Amino acid sequence: MVRRSLIVGCGTCLPRRSVSNDELARRVDTSDEWITQRTGIRSRYLAEPDETTATLALGAAQAALAHAGIGADRLDLIVLATTTPDHTFPATAVKVQAALGMTGGAAFDVQAVCSGFIYGLAVADNFLRAGQARTALVIGAETFSRLLDWEDRTTCVLFGDGAGAVVLEASEGVGDAGDRGILSTHLRSDGRQYELLWVDGGPSTTRTTGHVRMNGREVFRHAVTRLSEIAEEALAANGLTAADVTWLVPHQANLRIIEATTRKLALPDGRAILSVDRHGNTSAASIPLALGEAVAQGRIRRGDLLLLEAMGGGFTWGAAAVRW
Ligand code: UT7
Repeated sequence: MVRRSLIVGCGTCLPRRSVSNDELARRVDTSDEWITQRTGIRSRYLAEPDETTATLALGAAQAALAHAGIGADRLDLIVLATTTPDHTFPATAVKVQAALGMTGGAAFDVQAVCSGFIYGLAVADNFLRAGQARTALVIGAETFSRLLDWEDRTTCVLFGDGAGAVVLEASEGVGDAGDRGILSTHLRSDGRQYELLWVDGGPSTTRTTGHVRMNGREVFRHAVTRLSEIAEEALAANGLTAADVTWLVPHQANLRIIEATTRKLALPDGRAILSVDRHGNTSAASIPLALGEAVAQGRIRRGDLLLLEAMGGGFTWGAAAVRW
């Protein structure tokens, strides 16, 4: 009997304020035309001072639990992926745990920047497969705007804030869930070129939070190659091909990266779930935000094959194959 993790609920939470490219162009030397053509981004949500990673994560968690129809008392694991924790410690996950009224189980953060949700999903899936937890909340939440250098137009126009969450429940597989659930997860990292995409501060070095620094062209080049490789690996591991994919749910960094990856994988047009136009790059939150929206819109149906993929600072990258 194969034990699998089923995704039984999804939820999202965005800050109150959406900021258009035109609005940004009033404070940064940029234009709607440049941002739209180079990235596909038209607007992004930016957190107000009272909106933090934990408040956004809590909103997404409550929505996912409501969608799953279960109470927080059923949870025995919270894995929260973020690069922008509320505090250096404790983990933002324990703030969410307390706010949900969950006193048992374990809650912790994972840090893999834009690949964080895939990493968190893999960690929780392995806990469930190993029998160490039965019901888990996986959250991707960011207030990435707090890391931006508003004098650096090559980065500050790209990112946004938000959170998305999924509830996972262990199932025994055959008879119980058939071939549904998370089929496999695939993680990679390579720290040799970390300065192509990094934050130039931290408690142990500068004792400040620091700002995002990126060599966009190099990151773009690596992203397309690595994302298509890991996506192929996820398909091959399950005896599947691109023709079997109902929906690609990619990390939403740049529409051109998504289109180039889709072409490399030879996926037909229209198979990618897109939210980059309205959210920008929300780092660890982007996949659960895109997924949650698509589920709420009824676009994802029972039996669909989903391929999730992401790449981010580190470099880290990863993919997951999911039968809905
Ligand atoms: O989550 C994973 C992390 N990040 C990514 O995946 C991002 C990967 N990279 C990218 O998405 C793209 O490289 C960018 C969108 C960041 C940049 O696009 P690009 O086509 O690679 O542009 P570029 O960096 O080569 O810059 C082209 C021009 C430059 O001007 P010159 O030197 O050609 O005169 C830049 O100074 O565009 C200029 N530029 C801007 N102009 C207006 C750069 N940023 C802006 C801006 N507004 N915001």
